[in-house]
Amino acid sequence: MGINIIGTGMFVPDVIAGNEDFARIVDTSDEWITTRTGIKTRHITNGTLNFQMGAAAAKEAVEEAGIDPQEIDMIIATTVTPDCLTPSLACLVGKELGIESAAGMDLNAACAGYVFALDVAKHYLESGEFETILIVSSEIITRMVDYSDRSTCVLFGDGAGATIVRKGEGMYSCALKGKPQGADKIFTKLPAPNNPFGKNEFDWGNDEMNAAPDYFMQMAGNEVYKFATAAMPEAVEIAAQKAGIGVSEIDMIIPHQANVRIVNTAIKRLKLPKERFYVNIQEFGNISSACIPLALAQLSHQGRLHKGDKICLVGFGAGLTYGASIFEWE
Ligand code: ACO
Repeated sequence: MGINIIGTGMFVPDVIAGNEDFARIVDTSDEWITTRTGIKTRHITNGTLNFQMGAAAAKEAVEEAGIDPQEIDMIIATTVTPDCLTPSLACLVGKELGIESAAGMDLNAACAGYVFALDVAKHYLESGEFETILIVSSEIITRMVDYSDRSTCVLFGDGAGATIVRKGEGMYSCALKGKPQGADKIFTKLPAPNNPFGKNEFDWGNDEMNAAPDYFMQMAGNEVYKFATAAMPEAVEIAAQKAGIGVSEIDMIIPHQANVRIVNTAIKRLKLPKERFYVNIQEFGNISSACIPLALAQLSHQGRLHKGDKICLVGFGAGLTYGASIFEWE
C-alpha cells in the first residue's frame, strides 16, 4: 500500500531576521553564516502560537485536498516546541479547525518527526483504523534559542507544514533509525519539580547536562554534523533498497534543512545531480520537524511534483533520530 498526500499547506510568520540582524546581537557575520550554513533569513513568530501556525498550515492543506475538516479522523502533530505540555499540539490544532471528532496525538522525533509521523499514518491507514489523517508539523524553535549563543541562535526559525494523507496505490518504503547514545548531543532541559515532598534537583548522570540551563537548546554542533553527514545517505540507501529501486531512480529528495553543507555532502555520497535535492534553507533556516512538510507544500504549490514521481524524504535530529521514506506521488 502507498500513501496519497491529497493536500499540503504551510505557514511562516511575517517577521524575518536576516544575518545582519544577528551580527548586531552576537559576534557573527553574514559571511560566516552564509558560508558555514547556507542560511540568509529565517521567519520568527510575532505573537502567533504554535497551534495557530499549525492550524493555518492545516487549513491550507484541507483546502487543497478539497475535503471537509470533519472528515479528518486522526491528527498527528510533530513538534519539539509545543505550546503546552498538555494538551497535545494535535488537539489544540483540532480545536482551532473546529473538528468535532478525531484522535489526536503528538510525536516527538525532533527534526525527523515528519518522516516518523508519515510512517505511523501509513500503518493506521493500512490497518483501516483511520481513513483521513492530518499530519501537522509546527515549531516555535525560537522559544528555546539562547540569543547570546552564536553557535546555535543563527540556525533556527519558526513555521509550520501540514499534509492530509489517505491510502494510496503506489510504492512506499521507509527506514526509521536512531542512535540513543547520542541523546545528549542536542537537548533542551525542563526544570526540576518544585514539590514540598521530594528532592527538587536532578542528577542527569552527565556533567554537561547537569550544568546546562533549563529551556535553552544545547547542541554539540560538530558531533551532530558528523552524525548527519553519515545518517542522511545511509537512510536514503536503506529506504531505496527496501523499495527495490536504485538511488538514481529517485526523482526528488527533500532533506531536512539544517545546514547546506550537510546536504552537499549527501549529494556527493549519493552521486545524484544537485537539482534532485530541494533546498530552501536560505529562506527559512532550520524549522526542525516543519522543514520537510513545508518544503513538500512549496513543491506541490509550484506544480513540481508529478504523478508517479518517486519522492524521498530524509530527516535527522535530536535523539539522535534519523529516517527516510520513498513513495510515489499520486
Ligand atoms: N558566527 C561566527 N563564528 C561562529 C559562529 C557564528 N554564528 N558559530 C560558531 N562560530 C565559531 C566557533 O566559535 C569556532 O570558533 P573557534 O575556532 O575560534 O573556536 C568556529 O566558528 C568554528 O566552529 P565550528 O562549531 O567548528 O563550526 P562548524 O563549521 O562546525 O559550524 C554548525 C557550526 C553550523 C553548528 C555546524 O556544526 C552544524 O551545522 N552542525 C549540525 C547542526 C544540526 O544539524 N542540527 C540538527 C538538529 S537540530 C534539532 O534537532 C532541533
